[in-house]
Amino acid sequence: MKLLLDTANLEDIRYFNTYYPIVGVTTNPTILSKEGGDVLKLLRSIREIIGSERQLHVQVTESTYEKIVEEAEAIVAFLGKNTFVKIPATDEGLRAVQTLSAKGYGITVTAVLTAAQALLASNAGAAYVAPYVSRLENICADGVGTVADIAEIFAISGTTTQILAASFKTAKEVLDVAAVGCHTATVGSDVMKKLLQHPTTDTSVAGFASDWKTAFGEKTLLECLKK
Ligand code: E4P
Repeated sequence: MKLLLDTANLEDIRYFNTYYPIVGVTTNPTILSKEGGDVLKLLRSIREIIGSERQLHVQVTESTYEKIVEEAEAIVAFLGKNTFVKIPATDEGLRAVQTLSAKGYGITVTAVLTAAQALLASNAGAAYVAPYVSRLENICADGVGTVADIAEIFAISGTTTQILAASFKTAKEVLDVAAVGCHTATVGSDVMKKLLQHPTTDTSVAGFASDWKTAFGEKTLLECLKK
């Protein structure tokens, strides 16, 4: 399961883009609003940091068919290739998805809370559907189970639409969707860090360093090899 970073914070994007194997960045109006300022400058900076080969998902703010289509085309014209337009799973959105995907635009249908919405999005030609895992888990619904249902339906139909699971509050939720066949997941900075961190990893690394030093002194293996 591939991972994207769910933030518009430039410092975080720089960090994770350097150290973590992410394939792109996702935003939504709330995520962009947290950074504030000049939104076009912000989006342009994100594109510059991740480069043209990684995905950048940007959500429309318009809500009627004609305006969603116009806005989606403007977003892609502004941010270039590998830009995916996020469109919420509404009637107007679904109509726009059909028009835009027929024209070759990469569309992510977002705010997906049911497998039925995912099925409709897939039939409309979406490249991705974004089920909101923790928003479901928060209301005692089965977020991971919904992703599993979508994965099964997509596998049976043979659709090319992929699942981009979103809205995670814990690292376990991320692993749980990976285990039920989710293709990609977008994860905030905190949860992304928690996917790697483990105190026993830290103590193990410290132990290796100390044992090496005790036996071989200050020189690293590289320094020995270069001699
Ligand atoms: C993707 O970008 C989604 O909009 C996002 O993951 C939603 O996350 P939230 O439920 O934490 O707001």
